[in-house]
Amino acid sequence: MEMKDKEAQTSGTYVESLDLEARGVAKQDGKVIFIDGALPGETVQYSSYRKKPSYEFAQLTEIKRSSSVRIAPRCPHFGVCGGCSMQHLDPVAQLAVKQRVLEDNLWHIAKVKPDMMLRPIQGPDWRYRYRARLSVRYVAKKGGVLVGFHEKKSSYVADMRECHVLPKAISDLLLPLRSLVESLSIRERLPQIEYAQGQFVTVMVLRVLEAPSTQDQALLRQFAEQHQVQFWLQPQGPDSAVPFWPVNAPELSYALGEFGLHMPFKPTDFTQVNHQINQSLVSYALRLLQVQSIDRVLDLFCGLGNFTLPLATQARQVHGIEGSETLVQRALDNAQRNGLNNASFAARNLFEITPEEMSSWGAFDRVLIDPPREGALAVAQALASEQVPRPKRLVYVSCNPATLARDAAVLTHEGGWKLSAAGVVNMFPHTSHVESIAVFDA
Ligand SMILES: C[S@@+](CC[C@H](N)C(=O)[O-])C[C@H]1O[C@@H](n2cnc3c(N)ncnc32)[C@H](O)[C@@H]1O
Repeated sequence: MEMKDKEAQTSGTYVESLDLEARGVAKQDGKVIFIDGALPGETVQYSSYRKKPSYEFAQLTEIKRSSSVRIAPRCPHFGVCGGCSMQHLDPVAQLAVKQRVLEDNLWHIAKVKPDMMLRPIQGPDWRYRYRARLSVRYVAKKGGVLVGFHEKKSSYVADMRECHVLPKAISDLLLPLRSLVESLSIRERLPQIEYAQGQFVTVMVLRVLEAPSTQDQALLRQFAEQHQVQFWLQPQGPDSAVPFWPVNAPELSYALGEFGLHMPFKPTDFTQVNHQINQSLVSYALRLLQVQSIDRVLDLFCGLGNFTLPLATQARQVHGIEGSETLVQRALDNAQRNGLNNASFAARNLFEITPEEMSSWGAFDRVLIDPPREGALAVAQALASEQVPRPKRLVYVSCNPATLARDAAVLTHEGGWKLSAAGVVNMFPHTSHVESIAVFDA
């Protein structure tokens, strides 16, 4: 070990900031060191596990001076399970980190600063994941079947016995599910269990690479009845999932109470994972849009109508566009079941939308955009072009600050839109996932 390294290792290294993966970032001898588990403001010792000429990845070995926002992680699997990376940081400080990530992305990628930062949208810190995909592996040397999230940066399934971001009833089923899968003849042909908890029922979709035997079916029925869940079997892609037992359970749904809406969905449909935050997010997005009763509104990447239907309760007319035909059909059904006849929907690949096509839809007063992680570049280019009649206001809900920033650059620098406000939405507490919302004015 060189003299300087020795010094750093005795006196400790100062951690300057936190990166998007929640690693502490320090500088040592001109190199950037990414230290798992270290927090800004701390002085730590570390051990490098990957060395490159300009940076190193390291493990925290000792905290010499601890941060005032460090807290004890609640979960015993923290550090191993890849589900959460920020449990050692006070939830208020987590939000501050996420807000900085948002501001940094907007500034470094787009060179824009919002006129105003919005107050963060907050919900419960724990028990918020109403849907998730759990991996299943039969591992003889670990004594059987594992059901859980992947380990940090690995394809191994974490030996997860409890999880505090899952609803309690689902966390309590982790061990019973392990025993169940272990007892099945197809235990090595069942790689995933996807659950969705609705208002009146919890569905577990078993991805099965082989049909369950008669004996397996009896065990599944017994488990479903004992634990009050409905099993679905998915032999192929998501559309192949069908109810197995009980066959006539109530359908999955969530409520958007403020708007008097009831939203049925299928377990493999896209729905927001955090029901409480979703309710706040929808209300907040609509308030920010400042919808008037005479307005015609466009909802892009509308899914099953999560924003479209609430918008239809306030606006004259709403048009929702979505890539998945299945979700467009669900949105149409949901509009009909909620007695809304001023919402129309169409299926379209919005990654390929042109200004010509967007202008053919006519003029809109307000636009809501809620794209996947890839963002909405073609949409931003169309809305920046002179060919498209200009709405008064855009509200952009984003699950990836880097693509939001890229699209904000197009809207502001090419289209002359003004970034009036932006803020974070704490959709996934304890993870490094940054959900945000931004308001653009014409
Ligand atoms: C973040 S989700 C939002 C869904 C909906 N707004 C909600 O709140 O439930 C993104 C949506 O974009 C859709 N999508 C993904 N790629 C698309 C594309 N290329 N064109 C149109 N829609 C797409 C997905 O099917 C998904 O419904």
